[in-house]
Amino acid sequence: MKLCMIGTGYVGLVSGTCFADIGNKVICADIDYEKIRSLKSGVIPIYEPGLEEMIKRNVNQNRLAFSNNISESIRKSDIIFICVGTPTNKKTNAADLKYVFQVSNTIKSNLNKYKVIVTKSTVPVTTGDKIEKILKKNKFRTKYDVVSNPEFLREGEAIRDFVVPDRVVVGTNNTKALKIMKSLYMPIIKKNSRFFSTSRRAAELIKYASNAFLATKISFINEVANLCEVSGINIEDVSVGMGLDQRIGDRFLRAGPGYGGSCFPKDTRAIVTLAKKFKINLNIVSTVIKSNDNRSKILLDRILKIAKNKVNNKTIAFLGTTFKANTDDMRESPCLTLIPSLVKKGAKIVYYEPTGPKKEFDKIKKVHFSKDILGATKKADLVIIHTEWNEFKQLNLNKYLKNKNVIIYDMRNIYSPEKMKKKGIKYYSIGR
Ligand code: UGA
Repeated sequence: MKLCMIGTGYVGLVSGTCFADIGNKVICADIDYEKIRSLKSGVIPIYEPGLEEMIKRNVNQNRLAFSNNISESIRKSDIIFICVGTPTNKKTNAADLKYVFQVSNTIKSNLNKYKVIVTKSTVPVTTGDKIEKILKKNKFRTKYDVVSNPEFLREGEAIRDFVVPDRVVVGTNNTKALKIMKSLYMPIIKKNSRFFSTSRRAAELIKYASNAFLATKISFINEVANLCEVSGINIEDVSVGMGLDQRIGDRFLRAGPGYGGSCFPKDTRAIVTLAKKFKINLNIVSTVIKSNDNRSKILLDRILKIAKNKVNNKTIAFLGTTFKANTDDMRESPCLTLIPSLVKKGAKIVYYEPTGPKKEFDKIKKVHFSKDILGATKKADLVIIHTEWNEFKQLNLNKYLKNKNVIIYDMRNIYSPEKMKKKGIKYYSIGR
C-alpha cells in the first residue's frame, strides 16, 4: 500500500519506517526543511535503538522516502497518517490542535482520489469529526474516510512495540476503511496480537485513558514508596506482591522520580481539560497530576535530608538526565526541576548523559557536562542515578567513587541496599 506520514517526529518516523519494513511504500513528509535534508542524508534526528539501521534498509529497498512536498506526498498516497504534535496549550491546558487542522486543510486541497485519513497524533474526542467537516469542503468531491488509530509506542522500545503490539486499535464505523486498515496491519496482527475495532470517538478516548491510567499506576506506586520509606518496608516487595495479582499486573509499578516525557504529562492534562468541556470531573487524574508535580519537592527534601542540609558548594553528579533510559528526550524530565533547585541551594552539578550534553542546562551556571562517568563522579560528594541506562547497572564503584564519604542516591532502584551496605557505601534509593 502507498502511505504518507505527515510529521516526521517520533510517531511519524518510527511508524512510517516500521510500515515500510512490512512491505509498504511510505513517504515521510514534513515542512521542516532541515529535518528532511538530514534524513535524506542518513542523519536521524532522534535517538531510538534500531531505527537508523531500519531506515537505511528501507531507503535502500526503495520502500521509504522523505519529502518536503506535503501536497505531492498526499496525492501519491492511499492512506494518509496525521502524525503532527498536539502540545499542551499553556493557557487552557487542552491539546493544541492547530497543526492537525493545518494538515487537514492541506489534505483537503489534495484529495485527488479516495483516501483513508488516519489520526495517529494523540487527539481529543471529536477531533475526527472536525477533520471530517474540513474535508467535506474538498473541491474534488472525492470520497474519503477519517479513522482514528492511536499509537502505543514507548520511546526506546518503539520498534518492538510496533512489531509486537499488545493491541492495535482502529476507530471507524466504515467497513471499507476498516478492511483497509486491517489488511495494512495484517503482517503484525498475525503474530498473536490483538486487533480491536471500535467507534472513532472511543479510539480517541482509549489513547488518553490508557496514558492516564498508566500515569496513575506510577503515581500510586510512588506514593506507596513514600510510605515504605518511613515504615521500613521495601517497595519492590510491595510491587511484586501486588503485581502477581493478574487483575493488577506487574508492569508500570516501578517507583522512581516521577513520570516525565512528551506523553503522560501532556495527555493527563489534556484528558482532564477535555472532560471539563463535557462537564465531567476526572478527580483521580487531576490528583495524579498534582502528585507527580509534587514529586520533585519530595525528592529535593530527601536529597537535603540525605546530605544533612549541606549541599552548598558540594558537587552533585547526575548519571543520566533524560526522562528515562534509551532516549535522548529531555521533555518534562524530573531533573529539569531538581537540578535548578539544587543549584539555587549552592550545589555544583556535573552530569553525564549517554546521549550527550543538553541545551536545557546551557544557561545555568554551575552545571557542567562530563563526557564520561568518571569525569562526573570522581570529585562528587553525592551521586544521583537519575535514569536506568544499562551502563549504570554495573558500575565499577572502586574506580568511579574516589571520595570516601560519597553518597549514592539511586532513583531507579538499580542496586541492592544490602550489597551496598556490605561494601560500606552510603546508599539511598526510592521506597527502600
Ligand atoms: C508512553 C506510553 O507508555 C506509550 O504506550 C505511549 O504510546 C506513549 O507514552 C505516547 O503517548 O506516545 P513513553 O512516554 O515513551 O510512552 O514512556 P514510558 O516508558 O511509558 O515512561 C513514561 C514515564 O513513566 C517515564 O518517565 C518513566 O521513567 C516513568 N515510569 C514508567 C516509571 O516511573 N515507572 C514505571 O514503572 C514505568
